Amino acid sequence: MPVLRVLPDAGAVARAAADLVVAAVRAGSTSLGVATGSSPQGTYAELARRVATGRLSLAGCRAYLLDEYVGLPPEHPQTYRRVIRRELVDRTDLDPEDVHGPDGGAADLAQEAARYEEEVSAASIGVQLLGIGSNGHIGFNEPGSPLDAVTRVVELTERTRSDNARFFASGDEVPRHVLTQGPATILRAERLVLLAIGERKADALAAALTGPVTPDCPASVLQRHPDVHVLADRTAAAGLPVSLGT
Ligand code: GLP
Repeated sequence: MPVLRVLPDAGAVARAAADLVVAAVRAGSTSLGVATGSSPQGTYAELARRVATGRLSLAGCRAYLLDEYVGLPPEHPQTYRRVIRRELVDRTDLDPEDVHGPDGGAADLAQEAARYEEEVSAASIGVQLLGIGSNGHIGFNEPGSPLDAVTRVVELTERTRSDNARFFASGDEVPRHVLTQGPATILRAERLVLLAIGERKADALAAALTGPVTPDCPASVLQRHPDVHVLADRTAAAGLPVSLGT
C-alpha cells in the first residue's frame, strides 16, 4: 500500500519530494527518473536550492525522462528534454550529457521506443518522480493503456491535449502523439514518488489509491509497487478517506 502524506501546500510537497530524492542519492542511487508538467517544478527548484547552498550534489547522476512529445523540433521549448534542461539540469550540477530520454523526432518510433525501454531497464532507476494527469494518467499512459505495457507510442486524449495546451501558444500546437515509458517500465523503479497538487487532481488521486487496479486509471497500477510515496497537498487529497493519510 502506498505511503500517503497529506501536506499543507505545494511548497511542503516540493520539500518532501526533494528529501526523498536526496535520500536516494545518499543511498548511492545515480539514476533519477524525472517527470515534467507543473507538479515537479517546485521539487526541481528545491533541489536547485540545495545544490546552490552546498547541501546536495547531483554530479555523476543521470536523469531519465518518463516521456516525450513526438514531432516537436528539437529546439522547441516544450520538448521534455528542454524542459528538464531548463528546470533541473541548468540549475544544478547535473551534466547535460547525462539527460536521457526517448527521441520524439526519430524516423522509426517503434524502434526508438524499444531502444529507450532497454536503456531505462539497464539504468535501474533509484527514485522515479511522477505526476498524475487529471484523467489518471502517469507518464503519458492514457486511460485504456494496458498495465503491462512498456515504452511505446501513444495517441493523446483530447483531455490531456487540452490540459497541456497552457504550455503552448495554442491548443492546435500540442502534439497528438508521444513516446512514453509504459506502466510496466515505471514499476521497475526501486521507489516511486507521486506528486499531486491542486483540486483538479482530487478525483484521479482517489481513483488511483482507493479504486480497483485498472487500465481505466493507469495510476492505479501504483498499488502493485512495494515502495510508493504519495505526496499530496490538502486539495488534491480531498477525495481520500482521512484514515489513509499521515
Ligand atoms: C503531463 C505529463 C505527466 C504529468 C501530467 C500532469 O502530461 N506527461 O508526466 O505528470 O501530465 O501534469 P501537471 O503536473 O502539469 O498537472
